Amino acid sequence: NRKNDLAGKTIVVTAGGTREPIDPVRYIGNRSSGKMGCALAAAASARGASVKLVSTVDMPDSSGMTVIRVETAAQMLEAVRGAVKGADALIMAAAVADFRPLTAAGGKIKKNAAPLDLKLEATPDILSEVKGDFIRVGFAAETADLIDNAKKKLGGKNLDLIVANDVTAPGSGFGADTNKVTLLFKDGRAEDLPLMPKRAVAEKIMDYLATMLN
Ligand code: PMT
Repeated sequence: NRKNDLAGKTIVVTAGGTREPIDPVRYIGNRSSGKMGCALAAAASARGASVKLVSTVDMPDSSGMTVIRVETAAQMLEAVRGAVKGADALIMAAAVADFRPLTAAGGKIKKNAAPLDLKLEATPDILSEVKGDFIRVGFAAETADLIDNAKKKLGGKNLDLIVANDVTAPGSGFGADTNKVTLLFKDGRAEDLPLMPKRAVAEKIMDYLATMLN
């Protein structure tokens, strides 16, 4: 790998999709497998960073990392808030729910409750809520107008870098081992990457992070 170019740096990475409970046995989820976030954590760790992984999934080999397991957007927000204290960078690869049930039923909802109305409320936006003096990297999972939508999130969420992820391209996005992304920087630079393994995408992001941090 590329030397120890992240030695002495602390990097917080989020991975996986949040699960928002409907009742004790059901949740609203999404198709994120956590592979992209885990690849970022592995790449940062291999390059010498101290990694704090806030994840909804188990990391295959998390030796040397601090892993904080969470389920909901609210739990992820609290974990990230704690983890970023003293950190050099936050990378939000997790697919955080935008909506959650207004209330979760205390017991399993019975089938005869159909037709069932679920009222949803907005979840907190982690990137907007968590403030501090560290590099902020977001992802934008889009199904249309990739670059325009990603640019809006870059500015709106006050990010240094956004990874625009076309989740409709073959072999790209949720669940795949490969990904097709465009990196968009705060200063207007852009780099369009070919379809490549998620670990290779992660190394590219770490190249830029190492430059920004050193
Ligand atoms: O996990 P995999 O199967 O490997 O798939 C990878 C991926 C497709 C999930 C990943 O590459 C990706 O695109 N992650 C971001 C998914 C997402 O939630 O995108 P978004 O456009 O809805 O959110 C924009 C950014 O804001 C993201 O960095 C997200 O983490 C963050 N966010 C979103 C909602 C919220 N309430 N709080 C946030 O901080």
